[in-house]
Amino acid sequence: MSSSLAQKWVLITGASAGFGAAAARAFGAAGARLLLGARRLEKLAAVAAQARDAGAPQALYHALDVTQTASVTAFADWVRALAGRVDVLVNNAGGAHGLDPVEQGRDSDWETMFQTNVLGTLRMTRAILPLMKPHPGGIIINIGSIAGREAYEGGAAYCAAKAGVLQITRALRLELLGTGLRVATVDPGLAETEFSLVRFKGDRARAAKVYQGMTPLTAEDVAEAIVWVAARPPHVCVDELLIKPTDQAAMHKIHRRPPA
Ligand SMILES: NC(=O)c1ccc[n+]([C@@H]2O[C@H](COP(=O)([O-])OP(=O)(O)OC[C@H]3O[C@@H](n4cnc5c(N)ncnc54)[C@H](OP(=O)(O)O)[C@@H]3O)[C@@H](O)[C@H]2O)c1
Repeated sequence: MSSSLAQKWVLITGASAGFGAAAARAFGAAGARLLLGARRLEKLAAVAAQARDAGAPQALYHALDVTQTASVTAFADWVRALAGRVDVLVNNAGGAHGLDPVEQGRDSDWETMFQTNVLGTLRMTRAILPLMKPHPGGIIINIGSIAGREAYEGGAAYCAAKAGVLQITRALRLELLGTGLRVATVDPGLAETEFSLVRFKGDRARAAKVYQGMTPLTAEDVAEAIVWVAARPPHVCVDELLIKPTDQAAMHKIHRRPPA
């Protein structure tokens, strides 16, 4: 993969599973040095080891809960002490909770979705920007979603949260013009990770149905897109990248094959 990422410091939130873990391995294979955060430390340790096996010269990890400003501050202090700079910030921590129509929506689900996807992205960016600004050519990559562009029934709060992430990306792009820093969003469609298991609170059968009869994206497909965006030369900013499975033409328009 691209040698332009060799020795760069890449910070990934939500690196214990799914896109974040796959991105850690992919950036590691490109020779980047990794700073990984999430709440589940034993999973982070395993991902860091995989990233080192893939070629990362360093893969360091620290507990991070993006819903807590104190945790984000402690994480940023750890980054400052160990690396002193960040070249690539991947704001990936987030997800969906519940699929209830607004009439039956739960405060706890709504609050978690806004705390992680929206406020988590804002908090991390605020904390890490001072470590990026002295180094033009860096990039912030926010992980949005097709849900930030198209609404669906039961998705009101998640769609609103991801639409919020898209607007944060666009505002930051304007704010950082002239600094040499780039801002991008990578917005995936259906991808099979722990995402649906988390959304349906551990209901494996319901989670599996989401991908029934169609071929979803893998975490590796999305990681490859994230690494590609990060590896463009400093004068190139891929502002917005929408990546979907071939079987998904639009949020509701999915080609499903009948069971064999
Ligand atoms: N899969 C899809 O279909 C899809 C499509 C479009 C966009 N996305 C977005 O892609 C991102 C990654 O999702 P994924 O599919 O890889 O899901 P996933 O497998 O469930 O991974 C989510 C990651 O986020 C972390 N996380 C959750 N809450 C956190 C918190 N409060 N603080 C720190 N880390 C937290 C989790 O780690 P811990 O639990 O260890 O903290 C985990 O590493 C999310 O923003 C999601 O909304 C997913």
